[in-house]
Amino acid sequence: MAQPISTKLLLPGLSLFVFETPEQASVWVADQMVPLINSSKPPVLGLATGSTPIKLYAELIKRYKEGQISFKRTTTFNLDEYAIEHSHPLSYHSFMDTNLFNHVDIPRESINVPNGSLLLKENNDQEVEEHCKSYELKIASHGGLDLQILGIGRTGHIGFNEPGSDEKTKTRKIEIHTVTRQDAIREFGSIDLVPKTSITMGVSTILGAKRVILLAFGSSKAPIISQLLSEERLTTPSPQIPASYLFGHSNVQIVLDRQAAEQLEKE
Ligand code: F6R
Repeated sequence: MAQPISTKLLLPGLSLFVFETPEQASVWVADQMVPLINSSKPPVLGLATGSTPIKLYAELIKRYKEGQISFKRTTTFNLDEYAIEHSHPLSYHSFMDTNLFNHVDIPRESINVPNGSLLLKENNDQEVEEHCKSYELKIASHGGLDLQILGIGRTGHIGFNEPGSDEKTKTRKIEIHTVTRQDAIREFGSIDLVPKTSITMGVSTILGAKRVILLAFGSSKAPIISQLLSEERLTTPSPQIPASYLFGHSNVQIVLDRQAAEQLEKE
Protein backbone atom coordinates (compact mmCIF):
# COMPACT_ATOMS: atom_id res chain seq x y z
CA MET A 1 0.00 0.00 0.00
CA ALA A 2 1.37 3.45 -0.95
CA GLN A 3 1.10 5.86 1.96
CA PRO A 4 0.72 9.64 1.54
CA ILE A 5 3.16 11.93 3.37
CA SER A 6 0.21 14.18 4.21
CA THR A 7 -3.55 14.23 3.89
CA LYS A 8 -6.00 17.04 4.54
CA LEU A 9 -9.75 17.51 4.33
CA LEU A 10 -10.02 20.85 2.45
CA LEU A 11 -13.83 21.03 2.29
CA PRO A 12 -16.50 18.41 2.98
CA GLY A 13 -16.04 15.86 0.18
CA LEU A 14 -12.73 17.40 -1.00
CA SER A 15 -9.50 15.81 0.21
CA LEU A 16 -5.85 16.44 -0.53
CA PHE A 17 -3.26 13.63 -0.61
CA VAL A 18 0.43 14.38 -1.04
CA PHE A 19 2.85 11.58 -1.90
CA GLU A 20 6.63 11.60 -2.01
CA THR A 21 6.73 10.56 -5.69
CA PRO A 22 4.40 10.30 -8.73
CA GLU A 23 4.98 6.52 -8.65
CA GLN A 24 3.58 6.20 -5.11
CA ALA A 25 0.68 8.49 -5.96
CA SER A 26 -0.12 6.41 -9.05
CA VAL A 27 -0.06 3.15 -7.07
CA TRP A 28 -2.50 4.69 -4.57
CA VAL A 29 -4.87 5.82 -7.34
CA ALA A 30 -4.70 2.35 -8.93
CA ASP A 31 -5.60 0.89 -5.50
CA GLN A 32 -8.66 3.15 -5.49
CA MET A 33 -9.66 1.96 -8.98
CA VAL A 34 -9.33 -1.81 -8.50
CA PRO A 35 -12.60 -2.29 -6.51
CA LEU A 36 -14.46 -0.11 -9.01
CA ILE A 37 -13.11 -2.01 -12.03
CA ASN A 38 -13.97 -5.32 -10.33
CA SER A 39 -17.40 -4.24 -9.06
CA SER A 40 -20.52 -6.15 -10.10
CA LYS A 41 -21.91 -3.08 -11.88
CA PRO A 42 -20.09 -2.57 -15.23
CA PRO A 43 -17.72 0.35 -14.53
CA VAL A 44 -17.72 3.58 -16.53
CA LEU A 45 -14.39 5.42 -16.42
CA GLY A 46 -13.57 8.96 -17.55
CA LEU A 47 -9.92 9.04 -18.62
CA ALA A 48 -7.29 11.71 -19.25
CA THR A 49 -4.21 11.80 -21.45
CA GLY A 50 -0.99 13.82 -21.04
CA SER A 51 2.14 12.97 -19.09
CA THR A 52 0.46 12.85 -15.67
CA PRO A 53 -1.59 9.60 -15.87
CA ILE A 54 1.05 7.55 -17.73
CA LYS A 55 2.35 5.91 -14.53
CA LEU A 56 -1.21 5.21 -13.38
CA TYR A 57 -1.97 3.46 -16.68
CA ALA A 58 1.28 1.47 -16.39
CA GLU A 59 0.18 0.38 -12.91
CA LEU A 60 -3.27 -0.65 -14.21
CA ILE A 61 -1.60 -2.68 -17.01
CA LYS A 62 0.59 -4.37 -14.38
CA ARG A 63 -2.45 -5.29 -12.30
CA TYR A 64 -4.24 -6.61 -15.38
CA LYS A 65 -1.22 -8.79 -16.23
CA GLU A 66 -1.11 -10.05 -12.63
CA GLY A 67 -4.77 -11.08 -12.97
CA GLN A 68 -6.07 -8.59 -10.40
CA ILE A 69 -8.40 -6.79 -12.82
CA SER A 70 -10.11 -7.26 -16.17
CA PHE A 71 -11.46 -4.44 -18.35
CA LYS A 72 -13.91 -6.71 -20.20
CA ARG A 73 -16.94 -4.99 -18.66
CA THR A 74 -15.44 -1.48 -18.47
CA THR A 75 -16.57 1.38 -20.69
CA THR A 76 -14.28 4.39 -21.04
CA PHE A 77 -14.84 7.97 -22.12
CA ASN A 78 -11.83 10.17 -22.75
CA LEU A 79 -11.93 13.82 -21.84
CA ASP A 80 -10.75 15.35 -25.06
CA GLU A 81 -9.07 15.13 -28.46
CA TYR A 82 -7.17 17.57 -30.66
CA ALA A 83 -8.26 18.65 -34.13
CA ILE A 84 -6.25 15.77 -35.54
CA GLU A 85 -6.64 12.47 -37.42
CA HIS A 86 -7.09 9.43 -35.13
CA SER A 87 -4.11 7.74 -36.75
CA HIS A 88 -1.75 10.67 -36.01
CA PRO A 89 0.89 9.40 -33.56
CA LEU A 90 0.21 12.39 -31.25
CA SER A 91 -3.58 12.05 -31.25
CA TYR A 92 -5.14 11.18 -27.91
CA HIS A 93 -6.59 8.11 -29.66
CA SER A 94 -3.01 6.94 -30.31
CA PHE A 95 -1.92 7.96 -26.80
CA MET A 96 -4.60 5.82 -25.16
CA ASP A 97 -3.85 2.82 -27.38
CA THR A 98 -0.13 3.05 -26.64
CA ASN A 99 -0.39 3.74 -22.92
CA LEU A 100 -3.36 1.57 -21.93
CA PHE A 101 -5.84 0.06 -24.35
CA ASN A 102 -3.44 -2.08 -26.44
CA HIS A 103 -2.21 -3.79 -23.27
CA VAL A 104 -5.48 -4.75 -21.56
CA ASP A 105 -8.63 -6.71 -22.44
CA ILE A 106 -11.01 -3.78 -22.99
CA PRO A 107 -13.35 -4.42 -25.97
CA ARG A 108 -12.68 -1.84 -28.74
CA GLU A 109 -16.40 -0.97 -28.83
CA SER A 110 -16.29 0.05 -25.14
CA ILE A 111 -13.71 2.79 -25.85
CA ASN A 112 -14.93 6.35 -26.48
CA VAL A 113 -12.68 9.26 -27.42
CA PRO A 114 -14.08 12.49 -28.92
CA ASN A 115 -13.70 12.59 -32.69
CA GLY A 116 -11.34 15.52 -33.14
CA SER A 117 -10.91 14.74 -36.85
CA LEU A 118 -14.33 16.34 -37.41
CA LEU A 119 -12.66 19.69 -36.70
CA LEU A 120 -10.41 19.25 -39.72
CA LYS A 121 -13.30 19.58 -42.18
CA GLU A 122 -14.42 23.08 -43.18
CA ASN A 123 -17.96 24.38 -42.47
CA ASN A 124 -18.57 21.42 -40.23
CA ASP A 125 -20.01 23.11 -37.13
CA GLN A 126 -23.26 21.18 -37.26
CA GLU A 127 -21.61 17.75 -37.43
CA VAL A 128 -19.29 18.75 -34.58
CA GLU A 129 -22.24 19.92 -32.50
CA GLU A 130 -24.15 16.70 -33.14
CA HIS A 131 -21.11 14.63 -32.22
CA CYS A 132 -20.69 16.57 -28.95
CA LYS A 133 -24.35 16.09 -28.07
CA SER A 134 -24.19 12.37 -28.80
CA TYR A 135 -21.03 12.07 -26.64
CA GLU A 136 -22.98 13.55 -23.71
CA LEU A 137 -25.96 11.27 -24.42
CA LYS A 138 -23.75 8.20 -24.62
CA ILE A 139 -22.22 8.97 -21.21
CA ALA A 140 -25.72 9.43 -19.79
CA SER A 141 -26.96 6.19 -21.42
CA HIS A 142 -24.26 4.33 -19.47
CA GLY A 143 -25.57 5.82 -16.22
CA GLY A 144 -22.87 8.53 -16.08
CA LEU A 145 -19.19 8.30 -15.20
CA ASP A 146 -18.35 6.37 -12.03
CA LEU A 147 -14.90 7.93 -11.81
CA GLN A 148 -13.22 10.75 -13.74
CA ILE A 149 -9.41 10.87 -13.75
CA LEU A 150 -8.06 14.37 -14.37
CA GLY A 151 -4.77 16.15 -14.84
CA ILE A 152 -4.55 19.93 -14.66
CA GLY A 153 -3.00 22.36 -17.13
CA ARG A 154 -0.85 25.32 -16.07
CA THR A 155 -3.84 27.51 -17.08
CA GLY A 156 -6.05 25.72 -14.54
CA HIS A 157 -7.82 23.76 -17.27
CA ILE A 158 -9.39 20.34 -16.76
CA GLY A 159 -9.93 18.51 -20.02
CA PHE A 160 -9.43 21.40 -22.44
CA ASN A 161 -11.76 23.64 -20.44
CA GLU A 162 -9.53 26.68 -20.62
CA PRO A 163 -10.04 29.85 -18.52
CA GLY A 164 -13.49 31.29 -19.25
CA SER A 165 -15.14 27.85 -19.06
CA ASP A 166 -17.80 27.77 -16.36
CA GLU A 167 -19.63 24.99 -14.54
CA LYS A 168 -22.41 24.84 -17.13
CA THR A 169 -20.18 23.97 -20.10
CA LYS A 170 -20.82 20.71 -21.96
CA THR A 171 -18.87 18.72 -24.54
CA ARG A 172 -17.90 21.16 -27.28
CA LYS A 173 -15.26 22.56 -29.63
CA ILE A 174 -12.81 24.90 -27.88
CA GLU A 175 -9.78 27.02 -28.77
CA ILE A 176 -6.68 25.78 -26.94
CA HIS A 177 -4.99 28.44 -24.76
CA THR A 178 -1.58 29.70 -25.93
CA VAL A 179 0.11 28.51 -22.71
CA THR A 180 -1.33 25.01 -23.24
CA ARG A 181 -0.20 25.03 -26.88
CA GLN A 182 3.27 26.10 -25.78
CA ASP A 183 3.38 23.19 -23.33
CA ALA A 184 2.47 20.86 -26.21
CA ILE A 185 5.58 21.92 -28.20
CA ARG A 186 7.29 19.27 -26.04
CA GLU A 187 5.42 16.60 -28.05
CA PHE A 188 4.76 18.33 -31.41
CA GLY A 189 8.20 19.92 -31.81
CA SER A 190 7.03 23.39 -32.91
CA ILE A 191 4.08 25.71 -32.15
CA ASP A 192 2.89 25.61 -35.79
CA LEU A 193 2.34 21.87 -35.49
CA VAL A 194 0.26 22.09 -32.27
CA PRO A 195 -3.48 21.97 -33.06
CA LYS A 196 -5.36 25.20 -32.29
CA THR A 197 -8.67 23.60 -31.37
CA SER A 198 -9.99 20.49 -29.68
CA ILE A 199 -13.19 18.79 -28.58
CA THR A 200 -13.49 18.56 -24.81
CA MET A 201 -16.00 17.30 -22.29
CA GLY A 202 -17.41 20.33 -20.47
CA VAL A 203 -16.96 21.24 -16.83
CA SER A 204 -20.57 20.12 -16.20
CA THR A 205 -19.85 16.77 -17.89
CA ILE A 206 -16.90 16.27 -15.52
CA LEU A 207 -18.94 17.38 -12.50
CA GLY A 208 -21.52 14.72 -13.45
CA ALA A 209 -19.02 11.97 -12.50
CA LYS A 210 -19.75 10.23 -9.20
CA ARG A 211 -16.12 10.57 -8.12
CA VAL A 212 -13.23 12.68 -9.41
CA ILE A 213 -9.50 12.19 -8.82
CA LEU A 214 -7.28 15.05 -10.00
CA LEU A 215 -3.56 14.33 -10.30
CA ALA A 216 -0.74 16.87 -10.53
CA PHE A 217 2.96 16.06 -10.48
CA GLY A 218 6.16 18.11 -10.73
CA SER A 219 7.20 21.64 -9.86
CA SER A 220 5.74 23.13 -13.08
CA LYS A 221 2.30 22.47 -11.55
CA ALA A 222 3.15 24.03 -8.14
CA PRO A 223 2.00 27.61 -9.02
CA ILE A 224 -1.42 26.57 -10.40
CA ILE A 225 -1.96 24.14 -7.51
CA SER A 226 -1.24 26.89 -4.98
CA GLN A 227 -3.65 29.27 -6.80
CA LEU A 228 -6.28 26.54 -7.05
CA LEU A 229 -6.09 25.63 -3.37
CA SER A 230 -5.98 29.25 -2.14
CA GLU A 231 -8.53 30.29 0.48
CA GLU A 232 -10.18 32.56 -2.09
CA ARG A 233 -10.65 29.85 -4.74
CA LEU A 234 -11.79 27.25 -2.22
CA THR A 235 -14.63 29.54 -1.20
CA THR A 236 -15.35 31.12 -4.61
CA PRO A 237 -14.82 29.02 -7.73
CA SER A 238 -13.95 31.08 -10.80
CA PRO A 239 -14.02 30.50 -14.57
CA GLN A 240 -10.46 31.88 -14.55
CA ILE A 241 -9.44 28.57 -12.94
CA PRO A 242 -11.95 26.05 -14.30
CA ALA A 243 -10.58 23.29 -12.00
CA SER A 244 -11.98 25.31 -9.06
CA TYR A 245 -15.51 24.20 -10.02
CA LEU A 246 -14.55 20.80 -8.64
CA PHE A 247 -15.00 22.33 -5.20
CA GLY A 248 -18.78 22.18 -5.70
CA HIS A 249 -18.58 18.37 -6.09
CA SER A 250 -19.06 16.03 -3.14
CA ASN A 251 -16.42 13.38 -3.87
CA VAL A 252 -13.09 14.76 -5.11
CA GLN A 253 -9.54 13.74 -4.22
CA ILE A 254 -6.59 15.89 -5.26
CA VAL A 255 -3.46 13.77 -5.48
CA LEU A 256 -0.07 15.49 -5.67
CA ASP A 257 3.58 14.58 -5.47
CA ARG A 258 5.82 16.58 -3.13
CA GLN A 259 6.98 18.89 -5.95
CA ALA A 260 3.48 19.89 -7.08
CA ALA A 261 2.64 20.65 -3.42
CA GLU A 262 5.78 22.72 -2.76
CA GLN A 263 4.05 26.14 -2.91
CA LEU A 264 1.14 25.20 -0.65
CA GLU A 265 1.07 27.00 2.68
CA LYS A 266 2.34 24.77 5.46
CA GLU A 267 0.24 24.56 8.59
C1 F6R B 1 -5.62 15.59 -21.22
C2 F6R B 1 -6.26 16.69 -20.53
C3 F6R B 1 -5.48 17.84 -19.98
C4 F6R B 1 -4.23 17.39 -19.20
C5 F6R B 1 -3.46 18.60 -18.69
C6 F6R B 1 -2.17 18.19 -18.01
O1 F6R B 1 -6.58 14.64 -21.63
O2 F6R B 1 -7.44 16.70 -20.45
O3 F6R B 1 -6.31 18.59 -19.14
O4 F6R B 1 -4.62 16.58 -18.14
O5 F6R B 1 -3.16 19.47 -19.75
O6 F6R B 1 -1.31 17.64 -18.95
P1 F6R B 1 0.04 16.92 -18.50
O7 F6R B 1 -0.39 15.71 -17.73
O8 F6R B 1 0.73 16.55 -19.77
O9 F6R B 1 0.78 17.88 -17.64
